[in-house]
Amino acid sequence: MKKITIAIDGFSSTGKSTLAKELAATLGYVYVDTGAMYRAVTYFAMQNEYVSEDFLNKEALISQLPNVKLQFQFNSNLGFAEMYLNGENVEQPIRTIEVSRNVSKIAEISEVRTKLVEQQQAMGKDKAIVMDGRDIGTVVFPDAELKIFMNASAETRAQRRFDELIEKGQKVTYDEVLENVQQRDYIDTHREDSPLVKAEGAIEINNSALSKREQFDLVMNLIQEKV
Ligand code: C5P
Repeated sequence: MKKITIAIDGFSSTGKSTLAKELAATLGYVYVDTGAMYRAVTYFAMQNEYVSEDFLNKEALISQLPNVKLQFQFNSNLGFAEMYLNGENVEQPIRTIEVSRNVSKIAEISEVRTKLVEQQQAMGKDKAIVMDGRDIGTVVFPDAELKIFMNASAETRAQRRFDELIEKGQKVTYDEVLENVQQRDYIDTHREDSPLVKAEGAIEINNSALSKREQFDLVMNLIQEKV
């Protein structure tokens, strides 16, 4: 069977990573969550006080980028790879609402994007990869054999993210989460470098009314046509 590259882009909390993980597990492909990489750089910037809600020291972060080492390590108990920042497992702290509030500002910085895109392209050089993010089909792998663009209403997405955060024991309100989702949508679609847009040739899936199973079956059928 031919090995292919699967690029999954879309708005926040559209279920990209759930779908990507399932596809990768079924196909025996590598799964890469590029959002985790932008979140880890953001966590690094927060720890060093280069960024907060009303402050950004872009130059300081750029000068420290060579000291940001990102690595994915597969956790066989969880069945997916966890994010490591300079040797520390940061899988939990990068998922907080505080990181979500700052991440889109960090993802606007071209130097950050260049560094992460290079690493992502290296991870996908042998294909057999499912990568999710915002610019995978447009910038990272414009020649991917299959490109998916996922969308759902902001309210549906905020409810999903809110349920996830509450399950993890975080103290947030639905309104805070909705505001964050809308704010990230705005920054991600309006930034100058690699804005979130549907890639040429991408197949759009609006999953407001689709179950996980229906989405999985739909994409598996598309994959069958390519391999
Ligand atoms: O996918 P996730 O919601 O974890 O991504 C967090 C943020 O990282 C996004 O809102 C976006 O600002 C940024 N991002 C990006 N390009 C990617 C993946 C994520 O700009 N490929």
